[in-house]
Amino acid sequence: MAANSSTGAIRSLSGIVQAEPRPGMVELGPGYLDRALLPGGLIRRWAAAAVDYWGAGALAYGADAGPLELRAYLAARVSGGEPGVCGPANVLTTGGTSQALDQLAVRLCRDGRVLLTEALTYDLGREIFAARGVQTIAVPGPVDDLDIGQFRYHAALAARRTGQAPAFYLIPTFHNPTGRVIPAERRREILELAHEAGAMIIEDLAYAELGYDPAPPPPPLWRLTPDPDLVISLYSCAKSVAPGLRIGWLVSGERLAAELAADPVRLSGGGPNHFTAMAVAAGCVTGELDGHVRMVREELRRRRDTLVTALVLPDGFTMRRPAGGYFAWIELPGNVEDQSLLAEAERRGTSFAPGRRFGGSARGARVCFAACGPEELSRGAARLSAACRSAAAPS
Ligand SMILES: Cc1ncc(COP(=O)(O)O)c(C=O)c1O
Repeated sequence: MAANSSTGAIRSLSGIVQAEPRPGMVELGPGYLDRALLPGGLIRRWAAAAVDYWGAGALAYGADAGPLELRAYLAARVSGGEPGVCGPANVLTTGGTSQALDQLAVRLCRDGRVLLTEALTYDLGREIFAARGVQTIAVPGPVDDLDIGQFRYHAALAARRTGQAPAFYLIPTFHNPTGRVIPAERRREILELAHEAGAMIIEDLAYAELGYDPAPPPPPLWRLTPDPDLVISLYSCAKSVAPGLRIGWLVSGERLAAELAADPVRLSGGGPNHFTAMAVAAGCVTGELDGHVRMVREELRRRRDTLVTALVLPDGFTMRRPAGGYFAWIELPGNVEDQSLLAEAERRGTSFAPGRRFGGSARGARVCFAACGPEELSRGAARLSAACRSAAAPS
């Protein structure tokens, strides 16, 4: 079998990975991490260390909540060294955020709860809930904030119709698709509303570890409330380590964590992806995981800066400099719609994700700066800038 290098592909990965870049195309659409940043060498070492240290324990069915060592480490990590904030009983390992969303969707559907999302949201997150039969409502609001009045109105409407308090699905930190951060004040307001309405908040923190500016983002929602049952927070290794690991973790009140751990699928199969979880635990123990995340953050900061510098947009197009995550969001002028701009960009050899995928607006473009190296990114940004100029020009 011909060997692949640990990061770059020697042979074709078609049929092995979810998507391959199209030849000649600078792909700024998919929200993937550059393959050159995937830590093949580290994972090889962590996997060997897991077998050497835990022996059969790394290969048996795993503890239903996930391995205790890993949960204890993750609890300390998300507590930022503050004692008594979060312990292993508050943490459940997941098979990535998608798997956790699916497990939560099953519960929401069973309980007859409606899901309120931001006006623009992670499209596949919304689809996971919808596929499980959960009614989802996109709450109108500005691109870079939440409209609390609208959330209050739709929460009351949902409760009246179903007799059940709704749930909120929010991506407060380095949002997909817009990159924006919900300000601290609005975080307090949405928590207050959820408390009053008896709503549960599902907080998706997939990009939260990837901040690039000196000022850190506000604390996650779960750190801003004394009520352990108000927020379920979902973290993932997919964006800062490697999506193929299929490992993430959830932070919630102990009661809910125990209930989720007792799901029959876990009782039957143990915690998801146990061997990967043990390998990640080895990376945590040695400190290499944190070191790696720091390296990814540095790399992506440079790429964010490269994109922001290289994108020269004509009048009427606006883009805010994202403070973290993978994405920059371009708002398009009234005479440019996303699909025709995409066709123009693809003719010039680059792509982006059209805004309508993420909710109503056809006046936005999501540009991912995490998937390409700096040179390719500059090339793609120049092509996209040219496409914007061409789309904006009077015909
Ligand atoms: C906001 C958000 N949540 C979750 C995911 C998927 O996470 P995972 O790979 O851990 O399932 C993504 C991936 O694009 C995402 O953007």
